[in-house]
Amino acid sequence: TRKPLMAGNWKMNLTHVEATGLVQKLAWTLSDKRWDPERSEVVVLPPFTDLRTVQTLVEGDRLKIGYGAQDVSAHVKGAYTGEVSVEMLAKLNCGYVTVGHSERREYHHESDALVNAKTLRALSGGVTPIVCVGEGLDVRQEGEQVPHCLAQVRAALTDVSPEQVAGLVIAYEPVWAIGTGEVATPADAQEVCGAIRTLIGELHTPEAAESVRVLYGGSVKSGSVAAIMAQPDVDGCLVGGASLQVDEFAAIARFY
Ligand code: 13P
Repeated sequence: TRKPLMAGNWKMNLTHVEATGLVQKLAWTLSDKRWDPERSEVVVLPPFTDLRTVQTLVEGDRLKIGYGAQDVSAHVKGAYTGEVSVEMLAKLNCGYVTVGHSERREYHHESDALVNAKTLRALSGGVTPIVCVGEGLDVRQEGEQVPHCLAQVRAALTDVSPEQVAGLVIAYEPVWAIGTGEVATPADAQEVCGAIRTLIGELHTPEAAESVRVLYGGSVKSGSVAAIMAQPDVDGCLVGGASLQVDEFAAIARFY
């Protein structure tokens, strides 16, 4: 059985000082709501500059909140100004890193090949990639969302072994639903998440398909989370805006 994963992508928000306040308040609020860490995994994905602070808080206070980064270099180390290596993330005990977020694909021109290289690099460094895929509005209007997203998954997972696929996370985030308040219907989420799981079964193994976690992302709020989580192939959510509001994010984590 796949443990639901609720990951908060902070994007470019919160200084390390602000991060301290949010993580502490999140921990109190989760315990207040009687959140059970056995029933959902909660992860925050802060900017790089906050990671050391979050690590200290979480480890020092034995909080059951996980954390990770929003991007990783495809390179091992060296003359790559501005980039952050997987070794650096692993040293900070990051559990996860998002790769191929639509904002990276759009604003930084990340190709499927680069997303694949980053996925392989994260895996080789022992940090679980959250591989993001999703279609834009034009593709959705043509009804081509399934083939579009499956092509992105296929490309991102080139040369990834079935054992590695079993442990990773894939996030379906329709671009038209990100930050727009336009949440996909539960059926829209299920259609693509289910197709992704079927593809994993075909490309890899039935075991990999059974254990890979597929998340939905795009304007998830506490009011919409339960219906999305009721879908058989949705194993969690990648939450942007609502992850910056503690009460909202805690309610999302406590969806069950
Ligand atoms: P919103 O929840 O703000 O729509 O963002 C979704 C997202 O991009 C998470 O990675």
